[in-house]
Amino acid sequence: MKDLQVRVLENAPLAAGVYKMTFALPERVDGISCGKFVNLSVGDGAHLLRRPIAVCAHEGERVTVCYQVKGEGTRLLSQKAAGDVLSCLLPLGNGFSLTGQQRSVALVGGGVGVFPMISVLREFEGSGKAFYSFMGFRTKAAVCMEEVISALSVHAAIVTDDGSYGAKSNAVEAFFAAGIRPDVILSCGPAPMLRALKAGLAARGMNVPCYVSLEERMGCGIGACLVCVCKRSDGHNARVCKDGPVFEIGEVEL
Ligand SMILES: Cc1cc2nc3c(=O)[nH]c(=O)nc-3n(C[C@H](O)[C@H](O)[C@H](O)COP(=O)(O)OP(=O)(O)OC[C@H]3O[C@@H](n4cnc5c(N)ncnc54)[C@H](O)[C@@H]3O)c2cc1C
Ligand code: FES
Repeated sequence: MKDLQVRVLENAPLAAGVYKMTFALPERVDGISCGKFVNLSVGDGAHLLRRPIAVCAHEGERVTVCYQVKGEGTRLLSQKAAGDVLSCLLPLGNGFSLTGQQRSVALVGGGVGVFPMISVLREFEGSGKAFYSFMGFRTKAAVCMEEVISALSVHAAIVTDDGSYGAKSNAVEAFFAAGIRPDVILSCGPAPMLRALKAGLAARGMNVPCYVSLEERMGCGIGACLVCVCKRSDGHNARVCKDGPVFEIGEVEL
């Protein structure tokens, strides 16, 4: 993990309330991979904690993140321009991994949870694995990166909560409606979505390995402050930033 000053190359709207930012690292950083995240300053050093954002793409010394403007921190982030310098801790968290035996992979992403799913698609491009993507957005104006999702998946369903684009559905419903049984499921999205996925798997007796990336409020991002603690199913605590954010779905209480 490194603490670096990164230079913004591009920061532009991608969809309604969502921005795509690409920044340049001052040096090579090993270990950046899908499902990991960065902790990014928003430029007001005195007051605001850094914000955790998933890696959406990375190539050489360039890293791309996509973020929704939610509160003060992401609002400040959206005002950054090419040339601005931010401090950034990276790479953080454990990330997603796939074994050689896991040939068919379902990706179930909702809202900003779509972006780490896209990092999986990019990382395993050309690997011969078959990706079945189920991506849910609030509404048509929030839909983004459909071309990348479709190009890198053998099957892609883009759905919206209000039916303004694609079917009126959500990512979990779309996955179950497809009736597939992949070797592994990877998912990221809001807690209710992950709960629905867990309940749906249990109700169907689908004993498929499933890994979910949790979104918790974070402070330090490196395991020191315990702001991000969640409960493991065995009653012990886990730090989402350090022990996760990716967990086996049965391993944590959702
Ligand atoms: C591992 C991880 C990856 C993430 N990846 C993305 C991503 O790729 N794109 C994206 O749009 N969002 C992502 N988020 C959520 C993003 O971090 C929050 O939306 C953002 O921190 C909100 O900050 P704010 O100042 O705008 O909002 P405020 O509500 O003002 O934030 C106040 C505080 O709460 C924390 N916080 C608020 N909401 C969240 C949340 N949902 N998760 C974690 N901390 C939160 C902030 O870090 C800050 O400390 C991710 C979160 C985690 C934990
Ligand atoms: S954010 Fe500090 S321990 Fe996880």
